[in-house]
Amino acid sequence: MKSIRLDKLLANLGYGSRREIQMLARQGRIRLGDDALTTAEDRVTPTPDWAAGLTVDGEPLDPLPGMVLMLHKPLGVTCSHKEAGPLVYGLLPARWRRRDPALSTIGRLDKETSGLLLMTDDGALLHRVISPKNHVEKRYRVALARPLRGDEADVLAAGTLLLEGEEKPLLPVAMTERSPTEVDVVLTEGRYHQVRRMFAALGNHVEALHRDRMGGLELPADLEPGALKVLDAADIEALLPSRAA
Ligand code: URA
Repeated sequence: MKSIRLDKLLANLGYGSRREIQMLARQGRIRLGDDALTTAEDRVTPTPDWAAGLTVDGEPLDPLPGMVLMLHKPLGVTCSHKEAGPLVYGLLPARWRRRDPALSTIGRLDKETSGLLLMTDDGALLHRVISPKNHVEKRYRVALARPLRGDEADVLAAGTLLLEGEEKPLLPVAMTERSPTEVDVVLTEGRYHQVRRMFAALGNHVEALHRDRMGGLELPADLEPGALKVLDAADIEALLPSRAA
């Protein structure tokens, strides 16, 4: 673990400018256990144990870089700066929006899709989760405009379905029927608007879409739309077993 100046570490975590952090330190507002750290120019080695003892204004330090969080994305917010409307980043605490490295979404959900969305500042982890090579499963609950015709599960499982404008068929998708107009699908790819385009190719239309699982990580029933949760090592292992390089 590399050492870093305390003022730089806290500035990178969004606590203010380096000058503001030096002021916080001089005012005794940064503490390690019972001791005030009064000079933020000193270098520190930010191990998890060290960070667990650090407080700013009596509050535990925000997660160190390498942070992964789960958001229950509500309908109507967008993951992309290119789309109109409020961004998912607006749901983060203000300090987390100032972090460097910044938090990014791990893949995207459409504006009108709700559910499990992960965010991280760890670029390597992000790439491992979205890499098709690692086959991280994504499960969606789908409400359809019209009743199933009957062959959808077989067509999806066959791995032969072509989306409009594409030449490579989709990898097999597992579909479970919940009712004639409601299904669960489990995909390992993440093509653009995949679920909506998949059901369009099957002659239907997706009315509502919600993601409730990625890998072995489920959206907890008590995580309300708009709420977020910081993930721990066990959650990451459930998402992406460590054998997936
Ligand atoms: N497939 C879609 O069509 N939209 C999403 O948001 C996710 C998967």
